[in-house]
Amino acid sequence: MSLVSLFKGNGPSGFGARATAEQVTQGMSLAGKTILLTGCNSGLGLETLRVLSMRGAQVWGTARTVDKAEAAIKSVGATGAKGFACELSDPASVRSCVAAVIASGVQLDAIICNAGIMALPKLQQAFGYELQFFTNHIGHFMLVTGLLGQLSPTGRVVMLSSGAHTRAPREGIQFDNLSGEKNYRDWTAYGQSKMANLLFAKELSKRLAGTQKTANAVHPGVIATNLTRHMNPVIGAVFALARPLFLKNIGEGAATQVYVATHPSLATVTGKYFADCNVTPPRSDAEDSALASRLWAKSEEIVAGLP
Ligand SMILES: NC(=O)c1ccc[n+]([C@@H]2O[C@H](COP(=O)([O-])OP(=O)(O)OC[C@H]3O[C@@H](n4cnc5c(N)ncnc54)[C@H](OP(=O)(O)O)[C@@H]3O)[C@@H](O)[C@H]2O)c1
Repeated sequence: MSLVSLFKGNGPSGFGARATAEQVTQGMSLAGKTILLTGCNSGLGLETLRVLSMRGAQVWGTARTVDKAEAAIKSVGATGAKGFACELSDPASVRSCVAAVIASGVQLDAIICNAGIMALPKLQQAFGYELQFFTNHIGHFMLVTGLLGQLSPTGRVVMLSSGAHTRAPREGIQFDNLSGEKNYRDWTAYGQSKMANLLFAKELSKRLAGTQKTANAVHPGVIATNLTRHMNPVIGAVFALARPLFLKNIGEGAATQVYVATHPSLATVTGKYFADCNVTPPRSDAEDSALASRLWAKSEEIVAGLP
């Protein structure tokens, strides 16, 4: 438990910043549930894999390669878990993952879109689109929309956003600069991708209206993980030093996504943004349904144009 978590109280959910993924699932059996989780091999994803499996869920964990996914499953003794390759910046890999899940005939009780990259110091692109937008948003957009037919009648989609969505450009999404070529800034680009994750959850929840399926977004807190790998090493070192004082630990960091994906109290809660296991307001434009619809339409257009 970090010093900062120690002084934060619990919210209306009964949980707060100190809650861990183990605590939010205490006494819960997830036997018979199947949960697809991206980025299962590192940081919050690895802890999510561990705890969901410990509670009896069958986790279908994806990583950039099947070897990485299987090694992660082995490392946490996740019995019953299955590993898949899903390189989010490679449409062919995402499509193969979707096809494998559909071919299995499985019903997914939750899809947790956890994988992500942050603050790339220099502009990188995939298929002409800025890489954080492409990986964090477009890759997951392809995966989730491809798997909507596999979602169980009460299935939940959980998008890992971030408090850093507030660093998105003023317009929310710069539709005229999805290549990132105009005035590239690392944190603005990351913020935009996390704003996109929020808007995607919002629009998906609207499209799922009238069903018992839900879509929500979460901010996990600030946790020292491999996510800092692209940052200046000095800042990365400061991050590591700050860990015991100001940052959440891994268990606390994985709590919100595990809570939103599984907790019985959230069966009908949809279109919300959570932090510290409680609903919280995002930046106001993340609730702009016209912006969310526009992003969905643009994402469909982008996906249709991919090889
Ligand atoms: N840590 C924080 O403080 C924090 C704060 C706010 C939000 N978040 C969000 O939480 C999520 C998990 O982050 P983390 O902190 O656990 O980071 P992490 O330890 O770096 O884990 C990120 C995961 O995403 C995977 N990934 C990255 N690029 C990918 C790609 N192109 N295709 C498939 N998988 C890819 C990584 O795989 P490899 O290991 O193979 O690269 C890894 O499994 C991210 O979405 C992040 O934006 C984290």
